[in-house]
Amino acid sequence: MEIPISYTHEFEFTEEDFRIIQKLIYDHAGITLNDAKQNLVYSRLSRRLRANNIKNFSAYLEFLSKNKNEWQLFINALTTNLTSFFREPHHFPILADHIKRFETMETMALWSCAASTGEEPYSMAMTMMEVFGSYTPPVRIIATDIDTQALEIAKVGIYGMDKVDMLTPQQLKPYFLKGKGANEGLVKIRDELQNIVTFRQVNLLGDHWPVRGPFAAIFCRNVMIYLDRKTQASILERFVPLLAPKGLLFVGHAENIVLISNLFKLHSRTVYELNQQ
Ligand SMILES: C[S@@+](CC[C@H](N)C(=O)[O-])C[C@H]1O[C@@H](n2cnc3c(N)ncnc32)[C@H](O)[C@@H]1O
Repeated sequence: MEIPISYTHEFEFTEEDFRIIQKLIYDHAGITLNDAKQNLVYSRLSRRLRANNIKNFSAYLEFLSKNKNEWQLFINALTTNLTSFFREPHHFPILADHIKRFETMETMALWSCAASTGEEPYSMAMTMMEVFGSYTPPVRIIATDIDTQALEIAKVGIYGMDKVDMLTPQQLKPYFLKGKGANEGLVKIRDELQNIVTFRQVNLLGDHWPVRGPFAAIFCRNVMIYLDRKTQASILERFVPLLAPKGLLFVGHAENIVLISNLFKLHSRTVYELNQQ
Protein backbone atom coordinates (compact mmCIF):
# COMPACT_ATOMS: atom_id res chain seq x y z
CA MET A 1 0.00 0.00 0.00
CA GLU A 2 1.28 3.49 -0.89
CA ILE A 3 1.91 5.53 2.29
CA PRO A 4 1.39 9.29 1.94
CA ILE A 5 4.33 11.24 3.39
CA SER A 6 2.03 13.18 5.71
CA TYR A 7 -1.71 13.35 6.20
CA THR A 8 -1.41 16.81 7.75
CA HIS A 9 -0.47 18.23 4.36
CA GLU A 10 -2.98 20.04 2.19
CA PHE A 11 -2.16 17.78 -0.79
CA GLU A 12 -1.46 14.06 -0.76
CA PHE A 13 2.24 13.52 -1.52
CA THR A 14 3.56 9.96 -1.56
CA GLU A 15 7.08 8.50 -1.58
CA GLU A 16 6.40 7.38 -5.14
CA ASP A 17 5.50 10.97 -6.16
CA PHE A 18 8.77 12.16 -4.62
CA ARG A 19 10.80 9.49 -6.46
CA ILE A 20 9.25 10.52 -9.79
CA ILE A 21 10.02 14.20 -9.11
CA GLN A 22 13.60 13.34 -8.10
CA LYS A 23 14.09 11.52 -11.40
CA LEU A 24 12.42 14.19 -13.57
CA ILE A 25 14.52 17.06 -12.21
CA TYR A 26 17.70 15.00 -12.28
CA ASP A 27 17.19 13.88 -15.88
CA HIS A 28 16.33 17.36 -17.10
CA ALA A 29 18.47 19.74 -15.02
CA GLY A 30 21.00 17.47 -13.33
CA ILE A 31 19.75 18.63 -9.94
CA THR A 32 20.03 15.97 -7.25
CA LEU A 33 17.35 16.19 -4.58
CA ASN A 34 18.27 13.95 -1.67
CA ASP A 35 15.66 12.35 0.54
CA ALA A 36 15.91 15.17 3.08
CA LYS A 37 14.39 17.49 0.45
CA GLN A 38 10.86 16.04 0.58
CA ASN A 39 9.37 18.92 2.57
CA LEU A 40 11.11 21.45 0.36
CA VAL A 41 9.72 19.81 -2.78
CA TYR A 42 6.27 19.69 -1.22
CA SER A 43 6.23 23.37 -0.36
CA ARG A 44 7.76 24.51 -3.67
CA LEU A 45 5.37 22.48 -5.82
CA SER A 46 2.24 23.03 -3.72
CA ARG A 47 2.04 26.47 -5.34
CA ARG A 48 1.84 24.81 -8.74
CA LEU A 49 -0.97 22.50 -7.57
CA ARG A 50 -2.89 25.47 -6.17
CA ALA A 51 -2.34 27.51 -9.33
CA ASN A 52 -3.73 24.68 -11.45
CA ASN A 53 -6.44 23.71 -8.98
CA ILE A 54 -5.07 20.19 -8.71
CA LYS A 55 -5.92 18.08 -5.68
CA ASN A 56 -2.88 15.83 -5.18
CA PHE A 57 0.69 15.27 -6.41
CA SER A 58 -0.09 12.22 -8.44
CA ALA A 59 -2.69 14.18 -10.46
CA TYR A 60 -0.15 17.02 -10.82
CA LEU A 61 2.46 14.63 -12.25
CA GLU A 62 -0.12 13.33 -14.69
CA PHE A 63 -0.95 16.94 -15.67
CA LEU A 64 2.79 17.71 -16.03
CA SER A 65 3.30 14.79 -18.38
CA LYS A 66 0.61 16.18 -20.71
CA ASN A 67 1.21 19.89 -20.38
CA LYS A 68 4.31 21.31 -22.04
CA ASN A 69 3.87 24.81 -20.59
CA GLU A 70 3.83 23.50 -17.05
CA TRP A 71 7.20 21.86 -17.53
CA GLN A 72 9.22 25.10 -17.30
CA LEU A 73 7.21 26.24 -14.26
CA PHE A 74 7.97 22.90 -12.60
CA ILE A 75 11.70 23.46 -13.18
CA ASN A 76 11.50 27.08 -12.00
CA ALA A 77 9.77 25.97 -8.80
CA LEU A 78 12.50 23.48 -7.95
CA THR A 79 15.58 25.64 -8.51
CA THR A 80 17.20 27.48 -5.62
CA ASN A 81 17.96 31.04 -6.67
CA LEU A 82 19.72 32.39 -3.60
CA THR A 83 22.21 35.05 -4.67
CA SER A 84 23.32 38.57 -3.82
CA PHE A 85 25.31 41.50 -5.21
CA PHE A 86 29.05 40.93 -4.81
CA ARG A 87 28.46 37.52 -3.22
CA GLU A 88 31.80 35.96 -2.34
CA PRO A 89 33.33 39.43 -2.58
CA HIS A 90 36.96 38.30 -2.89
CA HIS A 91 36.20 37.23 -6.49
CA PHE A 92 35.61 40.73 -7.80
CA PRO A 93 39.07 42.25 -7.17
CA ILE A 94 40.52 39.06 -8.71
CA LEU A 95 38.30 39.55 -11.76
CA ALA A 96 39.27 43.26 -11.97
CA ASP A 97 42.97 42.43 -11.77
CA HIS A 98 42.64 39.66 -14.33
CA ILE A 99 40.87 41.91 -16.83
CA LYS A 100 43.44 44.70 -16.39
CA ARG A 101 46.17 42.24 -17.40
CA PHE A 102 44.19 40.47 -20.07
CA GLU A 103 45.62 41.15 -23.49
CA THR A 104 43.15 41.33 -26.32
CA MET A 105 42.27 43.79 -29.02
CA GLU A 106 38.67 42.67 -29.11
CA THR A 107 35.65 43.20 -26.89
CA MET A 108 36.08 40.91 -23.93
CA ALA A 109 33.45 38.33 -23.15
CA LEU A 110 32.45 37.12 -19.68
CA TRP A 111 29.90 34.43 -18.86
CA SER A 112 27.79 34.06 -15.73
CA CYS A 113 26.31 30.60 -16.29
CA ALA A 114 23.98 30.39 -13.27
CA ALA A 115 22.98 34.03 -13.17
CA SER A 116 19.77 33.57 -11.16
CA THR A 117 18.06 36.95 -10.64
CA GLY A 118 20.96 38.97 -12.04
CA GLU A 119 22.92 40.14 -9.00
CA GLU A 120 26.03 38.20 -10.10
CA PRO A 121 26.31 39.44 -13.72
CA TYR A 122 25.45 42.99 -12.67
CA SER A 123 28.23 42.84 -10.04
CA MET A 124 30.56 41.70 -12.84
CA ALA A 125 29.35 44.61 -14.99
CA MET A 126 29.96 47.14 -12.19
CA THR A 127 33.45 45.70 -11.73
CA MET A 128 34.13 46.18 -15.46
CA MET A 129 32.92 49.79 -15.31
CA GLU A 130 35.28 50.42 -12.39
CA VAL A 131 38.21 48.82 -14.27
CA PHE A 132 37.66 50.87 -17.41
CA GLY A 133 36.37 54.00 -15.64
CA SER A 134 33.52 54.06 -18.15
CA TYR A 135 29.84 53.18 -18.49
CA THR A 136 30.70 51.62 -21.84
CA PRO A 137 33.58 49.23 -21.14
CA PRO A 138 34.76 47.04 -24.05
CA VAL A 139 33.12 44.02 -22.44
CA ARG A 140 30.04 41.93 -23.11
CA ILE A 141 28.56 39.77 -20.41
CA ILE A 142 26.32 36.84 -21.19
CA ALA A 143 24.19 35.79 -18.25
CA THR A 144 22.34 32.50 -18.42
CA ASP A 145 20.25 30.27 -16.18
CA ILE A 146 17.78 27.43 -16.57
CA ASP A 147 15.12 29.34 -14.60
CA THR A 148 13.05 31.62 -16.82
CA GLN A 149 11.33 33.43 -13.92
CA ALA A 150 14.67 34.30 -12.33
CA LEU A 151 15.89 35.57 -15.72
CA GLU A 152 12.79 37.79 -16.07
CA ILE A 153 13.60 39.44 -12.72
CA ALA A 154 17.22 39.82 -13.83
CA LYS A 155 16.26 41.48 -17.13
CA VAL A 156 13.95 43.99 -15.45
CA GLY A 157 16.70 44.82 -12.94
CA ILE A 158 14.45 46.15 -10.18
CA TYR A 159 15.29 45.11 -6.63
CA GLY A 160 14.08 45.83 -3.11
CA MET A 161 16.30 48.01 -0.93
CA ASP A 162 17.04 44.94 1.23
CA LYS A 163 19.02 43.49 -1.72
CA VAL A 164 21.38 46.45 -1.84
CA ASP A 165 21.70 47.45 1.78
CA MET A 166 25.13 45.78 2.03
CA LEU A 167 26.52 47.92 -0.81
CA THR A 168 28.67 50.94 -0.09
CA PRO A 169 27.45 54.37 -1.33
CA GLN A 170 30.28 54.14 -3.93
CA GLN A 171 28.76 50.92 -5.26
CA LEU A 172 25.17 52.06 -5.00
CA LYS A 173 25.14 55.60 -6.29
CA PRO A 174 26.70 55.21 -9.75
CA TYR A 175 24.86 52.04 -10.70
CA PHE A 176 21.31 52.21 -9.29
CA LEU A 177 18.40 54.61 -9.57
CA LYS A 178 16.23 55.04 -6.50
CA GLY A 179 12.49 54.58 -6.93
CA LYS A 180 10.22 57.47 -6.00
CA GLY A 181 6.51 57.70 -5.19
CA ALA A 182 4.87 54.33 -5.81
CA ASN A 183 8.34 52.84 -6.37
CA GLU A 184 9.71 54.02 -3.03
CA GLY A 185 11.81 51.26 -1.45
CA LEU A 186 12.94 49.91 -4.83
CA VAL A 187 16.10 50.45 -6.84
CA LYS A 188 16.67 49.93 -10.55
CA ILE A 189 19.89 48.95 -12.26
CA ARG A 190 21.02 51.74 -14.59
CA ASP A 191 20.46 51.21 -18.31
CA GLU A 192 24.21 51.32 -18.96
CA LEU A 193 24.68 48.12 -16.96
CA GLN A 194 21.76 46.45 -18.68
CA ASN A 195 23.28 47.42 -22.03
CA ILE A 196 26.35 45.26 -21.51
CA VAL A 197 24.57 42.22 -20.05
CA THR A 198 22.55 39.84 -22.22
CA PHE A 199 20.27 37.34 -20.50
CA ARG A 200 19.41 34.02 -22.09
CA GLN A 201 18.06 30.69 -20.94
CA VAL A 202 20.69 27.94 -21.02
CA ASN A 203 20.40 24.55 -19.36
CA LEU A 204 23.91 23.44 -18.42
CA LEU A 205 22.74 19.90 -19.04
CA GLY A 206 21.49 20.76 -22.53
CA ASP A 207 23.19 19.36 -25.64
CA HIS A 208 23.72 22.83 -27.06
CA TRP A 209 24.88 25.93 -25.18
CA PRO A 210 23.94 28.99 -27.25
CA VAL A 211 26.88 31.08 -26.03
CA ARG A 212 29.88 32.32 -27.94
CA GLY A 213 33.34 32.28 -26.38
CA PRO A 214 36.20 32.58 -25.94
CA PHE A 215 35.50 33.91 -22.46
CA ALA A 216 38.07 35.83 -20.44
CA ALA A 217 36.22 34.53 -17.39
CA ILE A 218 33.40 32.12 -16.61
CA PHE A 219 31.48 32.44 -13.35
CA CYS A 220 29.93 29.09 -12.46
CA ARG A 221 29.17 29.70 -8.83
CA ASN A 222 26.92 27.83 -6.44
CA VAL A 223 25.26 25.67 -9.06
CA MET A 224 27.58 22.67 -9.17
CA ILE A 225 26.72 21.93 -5.52
CA TYR A 226 23.29 20.83 -6.77
CA LEU A 227 24.74 18.49 -9.40
CA ASP A 228 26.40 15.10 -9.01
CA ARG A 229 30.07 14.53 -9.80
CA LYS A 230 29.49 12.98 -13.21
CA THR A 231 27.46 16.01 -14.30
CA GLN A 232 29.96 18.45 -12.79
CA ALA A 233 32.82 16.73 -14.63
CA SER A 234 31.04 16.85 -17.98
CA ILE A 235 30.20 20.56 -17.56
CA LEU A 236 33.82 21.36 -16.63
CA GLU A 237 34.99 19.52 -19.74
CA ARG A 238 32.66 21.62 -21.88
CA PHE A 239 34.07 24.85 -20.39
CA VAL A 240 37.57 24.09 -21.66
CA PRO A 241 37.12 25.08 -25.34
CA LEU A 242 35.05 28.10 -24.30
CA LEU A 243 37.70 29.65 -22.06
CA ALA A 244 40.21 31.98 -23.67
CA PRO A 245 43.90 31.15 -23.14
CA LYS A 246 44.65 32.36 -19.59
CA GLY A 247 40.91 32.64 -18.94
CA LEU A 248 39.67 32.09 -15.40
CA LEU A 249 36.89 29.95 -13.98
CA PHE A 250 35.25 31.23 -10.76
CA VAL A 251 33.35 28.72 -8.63
CA GLY A 252 31.49 28.86 -5.32
CA HIS A 253 33.17 28.44 -1.93
CA ALA A 254 31.89 24.85 -1.51
CA GLU A 255 33.01 23.73 -4.97
CA ASN A 256 36.51 22.27 -5.16
CA ILE A 257 36.90 21.38 -8.80
CA VAL A 258 40.43 19.98 -8.63
CA LEU A 259 38.86 16.99 -6.90
CA ILE A 260 36.57 16.52 -9.88
CA SER A 261 38.64 17.40 -12.90
CA ASN A 262 42.33 17.42 -13.75
CA LEU A 263 41.64 19.93 -16.55
CA PHE A 264 41.96 22.88 -14.16
CA LYS A 265 44.46 24.04 -11.59
CA LEU A 266 44.04 26.47 -8.73
CA HIS A 267 44.79 30.12 -9.56
CA SER A 268 43.69 31.65 -6.26
CA ARG A 269 40.98 30.93 -3.70
CA THR A 270 38.09 29.21 -5.60
CA VAL A 271 39.40 30.56 -8.91
CA TYR A 272 40.84 28.18 -11.49
CA GLU A 273 42.77 28.28 -14.75
CA LEU A 274 43.31 25.68 -17.42
CA ASN A 275 45.95 23.11 -16.61
CA GLN A 276 47.45 23.21 -20.09
CA GLN A 277 47.67 26.72 -21.51
C1 LIG B 1 22.07 29.33 -5.82
S1 LIG B 1 21.86 30.06 -7.42
C2 LIG B 1 23.49 30.73 -7.67
C3 LIG B 1 23.43 32.12 -8.27
C4 LIG B 1 24.80 32.80 -8.44
N1 LIG B 1 25.63 32.07 -9.35
C5 LIG B 1 25.50 33.00 -7.11
O1 LIG B 1 26.47 32.31 -6.82
O2 LIG B 1 25.04 33.85 -6.33
C6 LIG B 1 21.88 28.61 -8.47
C7 LIG B 1 21.29 28.87 -9.85
O3 LIG B 1 21.61 27.76 -10.69
C8 LIG B 1 20.55 27.59 -11.60
N2 LIG B 1 20.58 26.23 -12.17
C9 LIG B 1 20.29 25.05 -11.57
N3 LIG B 1 20.41 24.04 -12.43
C10 LIG B 1 20.80 24.57 -13.62
C11 LIG B 1 21.10 24.03 -14.90
N4 LIG B 1 21.00 22.72 -15.16
N5 LIG B 1 21.46 24.87 -15.89
C12 LIG B 1 21.55 26.22 -15.66
N6 LIG B 1 21.28 26.78 -14.46
C13 LIG B 1 20.91 25.97 -13.45
C14 LIG B 1 19.32 27.85 -10.74
O4 LIG B 1 18.19 28.17 -11.52
C15 LIG B 1 19.78 29.00 -9.85
O5 LIG B 1 19.39 30.25 -10.35
